[in-house]
Amino acid sequence: MDTVLVTGGAGFIGSCFIRHLLAGTSARVVDLDALTYAGNLANLRDLPDPGRHTFVHGDITNRKLVDDLLHRWEIDTIVHFAAESHVDRSIWGPMAFVQTNVVGTAILLEAARNAWLTDKILPVEKVRFHHVSTDEVFGDLGPDDPPFSETTPYAPNSPYAATKAASDHIVRAYGHTYGLPVTICNCSNNYGPRQHPEKLIPFMILAALEGRSLPIYGDGRNVRDWLYVEDHCAAIQAVLDRGLPGETYNVGGGTGQTNLELVRLLCSILDELLPGAAYVPHAKLMQFVGDRPGHDRRYAMDVGKIQRELGWTFRETLRSGLTKTVQWYLANPEWAASVRGQPVYQEWLAQNYVDRGASA
Ligand code: NAD
Ligand code: TYD
Repeated sequence: MDTVLVTGGAGFIGSCFIRHLLAGTSARVVDLDALTYAGNLANLRDLPDPGRHTFVHGDITNRKLVDDLLHRWEIDTIVHFAAESHVDRSIWGPMAFVQTNVVGTAILLEAARNAWLTDKILPVEKVRFHHVSTDEVFGDLGPDDPPFSETTPYAPNSPYAATKAASDHIVRAYGHTYGLPVTICNCSNNYGPRQHPEKLIPFMILAALEGRSLPIYGDGRNVRDWLYVEDHCAAIQAVLDRGLPGETYNVGGGTGQTNLELVRLLCSILDELLPGAAYVPHAKLMQFVGDRPGHDRRYAMDVGKIQRELGWTFRETLRSGLTKTVQWYLANPEWAASVRGQPVYQEWLAQNYVDRGASA
C-alpha cells in the first residue's frame, strides 16, 4: 500500500482512518471530499505527519476528477467512506443518498476498473478497492434472532440502508464480473471523537451539557451494537492487510444496548466526570418523543469471521469508549460550537425535532 485514495476523509470515520494510516503506515494519502454539511476540515487538524496527506475538494461523482487522481497519483488502494450517512436525513430527502451512495460508488468503481484493469497503471495483485458499508443493509432483527452474519440476506428498510445495500451489490458485481479486487466491511454503529452532532451519542452529550432535553425516539427499546471508531479503523486495516478479494467482513463492538440503556450510561458517565454540573443527574433530561418512521428494532453482529480469519477484535468496552468520547467533546467545545452554529444544522434541528414534540 503506497498511495491510498480515501473518499470522505473529512467526515467522522474517514478522518479517523486517515490518522490511523498516517500514524501506522508509510502510505501517502489522497483525501477526496466534497465537504457537504458533514465534511469538516477541522477534523483534519493536527494529523500525524501531515506532509503525506493531500486534501482534494471534489465530488466522487466527478468521473474526470477521479480518473485524474487515480492516474496522477498512481493510486493502489481506494478506501471508500464518502456517503450520505444519516438515516433520519434519508427519510426527509432520499435522492441525495441515491446520488452519492449509489451513483457515486458506481463512478468510483468504473474509474478503478478503467485505471487498474484497462489502463493497467499498476499490477492487479497490488490494487484494492475497499468499500465501507453498514449492518443496516441486513434489516431488522427480532429479540431472539441470531446476529447478522456475512451470509444473512439483505433486507434494507430505510432509504439510507437501501442505498448502501445497492452500493454493496455493485461493488460485489465488479469483483465477480471484472475481477476487480474488492473487499467490503459491514460495520455497526460507530461512535467516538469528531462524530457529527446530528448522530445519537454526540447529540446527547452536547444536549446534556447544556441542560437541554435528550429526545428518545419511540419507546427507546431499539437495540444497537456500538463500535468505537478506532476499533473500526483497525478492522479496515486488517482487511486491507490480510483480507481476501471478493470477501465481506462484519465488524461490531460486541455490545447490544437499548437506546434507553445507552443514554442512561452516557448520563452516568457525565455525572461522574462533572459531579458539580447544574444538570446532575443528567438522566432526568431524557424525554420520549415521536418515533422514526420504519425504525429498525434491533441490530446485532456476529464478528466471528474477521476474528477467526484476520485476527482482529474490538478493544474498547462501551464504558471505556464512551468515556473517551465524552472527554473528547468536553476538551473540544469550539469544534462542536462551530458545527452546531451553522444555519444548516439549526435548520436540521427544526426539521427533525420540532414536530416530534421534543422540547428545546
Ligand atoms: P459522515 O457523514 O461523518 O462523513 C461523510 C463524508 O463524506 C463527509 O466528509 C462528506 O463531506 C463526504 N461526502 C459526502 N458526499 C460526498 C460526495 N458526493 N463526494 C465526496 N465526498 C462526499 O459519515 P461517517 O459516519 O464518517 O461514515 C463513513 C462511512 O461509513 C459511510 O459510508 C457510512 O455509510 C459508513 N458507516 C457509518 C457508520 C456510522 O455509525 N457512522 C456505521 C456503518 C457504516
Ligand atoms: P443514529 O445515531 O442516527 O444511528 P442509526 O439510526 O444509523 O442506528 O441513531 C441511533 C439510534 O438512536 C437509533 O435507534 C435512533 C435513535 N435516536 C434517538 O432515539 N434520538 C435521537 O435524537 C437520535 C439522533 C437517534
